[in-house]
Amino acid sequence: MENTPNGALSRRDVIKKTGQIAAASALAGVVLPHVHAAEKNTIEVALVGCGGRGTGAIANALATAKAGPIKLVAMADVFPERLNACFRSIRQGFASQVEVPDDRKFIGFDGYQKAMDALKPGDVVILATPPAFRWVHFTYAIEKGLNVFMEKPVTVDGPSTRRMLQLAEASARRNLKVGVGLMCRHCAARQELYRRIRDGRVGALLTLRAYRLVGRGGFTGPRPADLSELLHQVQRFHSFFWASGGVFMDYLIHNIDECCWMKDAWPVRAQGSGGRQYRGNNIDQNFDHYSIEYTFADGTKLFVAARNIPGCHQEFASYAHGTQGSAVISTSSHTPARCRIYRGHNVTPADLVWRFPGTEPNPYQLEWDHLIDAIRRDRPYNEVRRGAEASLVTAMGRMAVHTGRVVTFDEMLNHEHEFAPEVDRLTMASPAPLQLGTDGKYPQPQPGVNTRREY
Ligand SMILES: NC(=O)c1ccc[n+]([C@@H]2O[C@H](COP(=O)([O-])OP(=O)(O)OC[C@H]3O[C@@H](n4cnc5c(N)ncnc54)[C@H](O)[C@@H]3O)[C@@H](O)[C@H]2O)c1
Repeated sequence: MENTPNGALSRRDVIKKTGQIAAASALAGVVLPHVHAAEKNTIEVALVGCGGRGTGAIANALATAKAGPIKLVAMADVFPERLNACFRSIRQGFASQVEVPDDRKFIGFDGYQKAMDALKPGDVVILATPPAFRWVHFTYAIEKGLNVFMEKPVTVDGPSTRRMLQLAEASARRNLKVGVGLMCRHCAARQELYRRIRDGRVGALLTLRAYRLVGRGGFTGPRPADLSELLHQVQRFHSFFWASGGVFMDYLIHNIDECCWMKDAWPVRAQGSGGRQYRGNNIDQNFDHYSIEYTFADGTKLFVAARNIPGCHQEFASYAHGTQGSAVISTSSHTPARCRIYRGHNVTPADLVWRFPGTEPNPYQLEWDHLIDAIRRDRPYNEVRRGAEASLVTAMGRMAVHTGRVVTFDEMLNHEHEFAPEVDRLTMASPAPLQLGTDGKYPQPQPGVNTRREY
C-alpha cells in the first residue's frame, strides 16, 4: 500500500488491484460457507427501498426467470404506502414470482435487517434506498452472506467512500456477487464504442464533455406539518447532501462514469463553479447549476455541466473528442445511447463514420442478466469498487464547486467531513442528520467563504 506522508489513502492505492484494503473490522471474523445458486435452484430476493427504482429493479430481477427460478420473498421500506404500492405493481406483472405475506413486509429503519433475515446465504438483496444507507445495508448483507444489487451512488462523501471500499474487499473475499446500478456499463452500444475508442478510431482522447441540463430537480420547500423532519429529508433525499450527495451527484454520476470509462481513468482533480439563482421559496441545499473541469493524470480534461433551471436549453448527453475524430457516448437520457463516431468534431450526418447498428438491448435488464448469470455460474462479479470510485469522483466535482477550490481525488478520499455519521443508528424517533438554520433554511454551500467543508 502506497501511503501519503500522513498515512492517508492515495488515488493509486485505490486504483491498484483489489485485496489491499483491510476488511471492515465488523466483518473481519465472519466466516461464511461457500454457497451459490445453480441453474435449478430458486433464488430468493428481498427488496430494501420500494420506490421508483426499487420497483424497476425487482421487475428486472424477476424477468431473469428464463435463467432459473427466482422470486421476491421480503420487502422493507420506511413508508408503508411506498411498500404497498410497489407490492401491488410487482404482483400485477409477476404474480407467480411474488411470495411476500404481510409478515415479510417490514416498515422502519431496521426493516432491512428483518428482510435480509428472511433470506438464506446465496440469495439476493436489492438495496434501492437513498444512498446514505448503502454502507449500512451492505454491511449487513455481507454478514448474512447475501449477493447484492445496489443502486448508485453508493457513497456520498469521503468517509462513506472509504468504508465502502473496505466493504468491497470484504464482499469480494467472501465470493459475493455484487452489482452496482451504473447500468450504462452494461450497455452493448457503449461497450462497442469503448472497444472502438481503445482501437484508436478517434485517435488519442483529449477532451470529454457531459451535460445534464434539464428542468427542476432536487427542489424542496418547507416541511409539511404531518411529516417528521427525518422522514421529510429521507423522502426528499435529492435535496439533502447527507441523504444523496445532492441532486448533482444523483443525476451526473452516470455521465461522469461513462466518460471516465471511455478514458479508462479517473480524474486526479477538479475545479468548478455554480450557484443558486431561481430557487424561489425552496430551502434545500442544492445549487441550480454546476460547471466542472476535471483533469486526468495526463492533463486531458472532462468538462461537466449540470443545470436545473426550466426554460433553458436542455441536453442530457456525453461526448468524447480525440486527435482524429469524435464520439457520442450517449445522446439523450441513458438509453438508447445511440453511440456514434464522427470523422471531425461536428456531430453532423455528413461526418458520420459509425453508429451502433440495430436496437439496443435495455441496460437495466442487462445488468441483471449479468449479475444472475454470475451467481448461477459462480463466476467472480463485484462492481462495488468501481461504484465507489465513480461516486467519489462525482463528489470531488461537487465539493470543488461548493468550496470554490481545486479538490484532488486524494483529498476527497481522505476528507473527514462525514455528512451523516450516525446514519446506522437512525430510528423513526431520531432527529434528522441536518437541522434548519436560524434563518429557516438548511445550510447551503458558500464557495470562497466556507472553503474547508461543503456546508
Ligand atoms: N440507475 C438509475 O438509472 C437510477 C434511476 C433512479 C434512481 N436510482 C437510484 O435509486 C435509489 C432510489 O431512488 P428512487 O428514485 O427509487 O427513489 P424513491 O424515493 O422513489 O425510492 C426510495 C425508497 O426507499 C425508501 N427508503 C428510504 N430510506 C429507507 C431506509 N432507510 N430503509 C428502507 N427504505 C427506505 C423510501 O421510502 C422510498 O420508497 C437512489 O440511489 C437513486 O439514485 C437509480
